[in-house]
Amino acid sequence: MMNRYEDKNFKDSMRIKYDFNNLMDTVINEQVKDKADKKKTGAISRADIEAMMDKYNAARKSMEAKIGKAEFEMAWSNLAYNQDEIVEDIIEYSKKVQKKFDNFVVLGIGGSALGPIAIQQALNHMKYNDLPKKERKGPKFFVEDNVDPERMQALLDVIDIRKTCFNVISKSGGTSETMSQYLIVSDLLKKALGCKWNNNIVATTDHSKGNLIKIAQKENIKTFYIPDGVGGRFSEICPVGLLPAAVCGIDIKEMLAGVAYMDEISKEKDVFKNPAHMAGLLMYIAMEKKSKNIQVVMPYADSLKYMADWHAQLWAESLGKKYSLDGKAVNVGQTPVKALGVTDQHSQVQLYAEGPFDKVITFIGVGNYRMEYAIPNGCEDIPDVAFLGGHTLNELIQSELDATEYALTVQGKLNQRITLPEVNAFTIGQLMYFFMMQTAVAGELLNINAFNQPGVEEGKNATYALLGKKGFEEKKAELNARPEKDKEYIL
Ligand code: PA5
Repeated sequence: MMNRYEDKNFKDSMRIKYDFNNLMDTVINEQVKDKADKKKTGAISRADIEAMMDKYNAARKSMEAKIGKAEFEMAWSNLAYNQDEIVEDIIEYSKKVQKKFDNFVVLGIGGSALGPIAIQQALNHMKYNDLPKKERKGPKFFVEDNVDPERMQALLDVIDIRKTCFNVISKSGGTSETMSQYLIVSDLLKKALGCKWNNNIVATTDHSKGNLIKIAQKENIKTFYIPDGVGGRFSEICPVGLLPAAVCGIDIKEMLAGVAYMDEISKEKDVFKNPAHMAGLLMYIAMEKKSKNIQVVMPYADSLKYMADWHAQLWAESLGKKYSLDGKAVNVGQTPVKALGVTDQHSQVQLYAEGPFDKVITFIGVGNYRMEYAIPNGCEDIPDVAFLGGHTLNELIQSELDATEYALTVQGKLNQRITLPEVNAFTIGQLMYFFMMQTAVAGELLNINAFNQPGVEEGKNATYALLGKKGFEEKKAELNARPEKDKEYIL
């Protein structure tokens, strides 16, 4: 039988939509209420886009020479097409994990954690771990992406490590946070299980570089590989994200079909028919020409809450760069802010509506929620409450998204909307690939390397030095030579 993600009608009905009306001057100017605000909006004109066409075409050409190539860290664009064998291996291994273990714990950080968290939240029951075992599609799921000692202990308090599979994920195989977690967990497993301890651990790492692969080979640990040319924040659609998703019963083939679908759309030459490229171009204009230094990503669905976290890393770490490709200090980037609709209407939207004209708000909406919840009639004697009865929570959340969009637009605050017809593995694959492609396009336009993270490396090296790692003596001396903090400024 054909899978639904092989059916063209299903795929087209699930195409995500990118609506940038409310970035455009013609739309904004018509709606802004206060005339004085019209000059402040920084709305984008058709002429602004047209003026960028030569630059965009050059960036596109340059990107086309790099896309799919590991040496340019762009091998992520092949992942929808070259993982058939690995996907089967992941599915087979996941079945064994589902049979044998009560818990599955990801040990990783940054790009090795945020994707698995976002996928699980989007595609599984929102109280997944609290469901009875028979109603869950896999073991309980935890991601330990910090080294707070209290959090580590809290996890160990609620799991039986003998019934837990730990997935250590590290592309570099040397990240202090992840490797210290590995040391803790492997020590506990050895004490609890003796020579069979390595059955409770699976590594996801580079096939040849770094220490984790050396450890995995020495300790005979089952290993999945992160392909060359796929950096941390672009790795969700390789075993980094696919293994945890499959273990928790998510259809990873459908997710990859969504990735392939958006990849095809992203090959469209006309930027007005290419949502990811258009989104990259518009954010470039917003950042560089309109001083929009902040982008708030605000999904109107709890299922997409952690997509905003995943996006924040992708956008911040990829585009926040000091140097351009030709070595000039440019200090570019756009600060991502995470928000959740409707919750943050009651905490942040006041600022977005009436504060400075320094940001773009990206709403993520959902066409059809996976269920409908009716609001019963009641409080008939209090009309201000009674009017809600007979509606649904679906109507309420949709109306609040429309209303917030309207409220920002009339204040001249630029906003755009991405709509998923429904949250499912196919649309989530599309959404993640949309953001990855948008980031690559924006990086190319900014003329920076979107795939490295020298600013993070500096902090990693300083940590190694402070903890006395061999080879970092010079860095330690540099740190020790820091001026003393002035006590006057510590109250
Ligand atoms: O996107 C990135 O490259 C980083 O956020 C990394 O994912 C993060 O630093 C963890 O690195 P690693 O997977 O090498 O342990």
